[in-house]
Amino acid sequence: MEKRVRPVGITGIGAYAPERVLSNADLERIVETSDEWIVTRTGIRERRIAGPEETTSTMAVQAARQALEMAGVRPEELDLIVVGTVTPDMVFPATACLVQDALGARRAAAMDISAACPGFLYGLGVASQMVATGLYEKALVIGADTLSRITDYQDRSTCVLFGDAAGAAVLEPVSEGRGILGLELGADGSGRDHLYLPGGGSKHPASHETVEQRLHYVKMNGKEVFKFAVRVMNESTLRVLAQAGLTPADVDLLVPHQANLRIIEAAVERLGIPWEKVVVNLDRYGNTSAAAIPLALTEAWRAGRIRDGDLLLLVSFGAGLVWGAVALRWGR
Ligand code: ACO
Repeated sequence: MEKRVRPVGITGIGAYAPERVLSNADLERIVETSDEWIVTRTGIRERRIAGPEETTSTMAVQAARQALEMAGVRPEELDLIVVGTVTPDMVFPATACLVQDALGARRAAAMDISAACPGFLYGLGVASQMVATGLYEKALVIGADTLSRITDYQDRSTCVLFGDAAGAAVLEPVSEGRGILGLELGADGSGRDHLYLPGGGSKHPASHETVEQRLHYVKMNGKEVFKFAVRVMNESTLRVLAQAGLTPADVDLLVPHQANLRIIEAAVERLGIPWEKVVVNLDRYGNTSAAAIPLALTEAWRAGRIRDGDLLLLVSFGAGLVWGAVALRWGR
């Protein structure tokens, strides 16, 4: 990216998932489904569900504390907190403000980004540019969602897919050749009706009717999202690699959005990236929306799958429709 002023990378990561497990067997007791259908169609075996006291901000804070510790950054050193989420604690204030207060990050500006599953990558895009220009030194980017609170557990076509979690990353200037080498954020609003939540906004403000009509739950056209996902995962990956003068053969670790194993398999096959270089954890967490990428990244790092100098490719898609991809050389 010629416009880059100074290199910016991830210096700390962390993730949190609630303790409560909702298995496919549990779902068999709630809706007309089967473990066999869910596993063969999605690859998901279980997901985590937030406890009654947990919210998007409380999970975000847990993930953020780990990321700050790994980076060696104190909360009061942070200049910016960005939270990617479609399940904020409240419509306003921003969940990022709740995180800022809980962490004691007094100097930090705080904002949310609504970009569904790629919310973490949208956050990386926005925050990294502010650090690259020198406006800020240290930014905290979080992807966190409590999808269980907007999931219709009478709708078997969506309720088997989603889980709750949070993930976080600290962004700082890094040495030349490290950090974000390529970045693409994209949107196609003409696909808005394929994945949306109609109730509670200015179009359908909350009322008895909106509740009766179940408008406060996710609506999804799974087939259309599936086709879109496979296409953009492939195309945006190739474009961000090209920005950096790289090809799929250079990728050491692919961290794709964790929505459906078949989507990942189809995209990976088109890209020709060996399966052992792909991070998959959706079997244990389902689709955790904006948390999926930082959660998978953190697990890969904890498992020793990321070494200094590795080229990571993060790619995601979701409601909007939107997508994002980031090529990142790991290390300070
Ligand atoms: N259990 C059993 N049967 C089911 C279930 C279920 N949980 N859900 C659907 N079915 C049935 C359908 O009713 C349908 O039956 P019919 O043929 O009698 O009508 C049949 O299974 C096939 O349904 P399809 O929708 O064709 O199944 P498909 O193979 O497309 O898989 C799925 C559905 C898993 C939703 C898939 O389309 C998908 O993963 N799409 C992408 C979803 C996605 O990635 N969303 C991202 C969200 S990102 C964000 O922003 C939150």
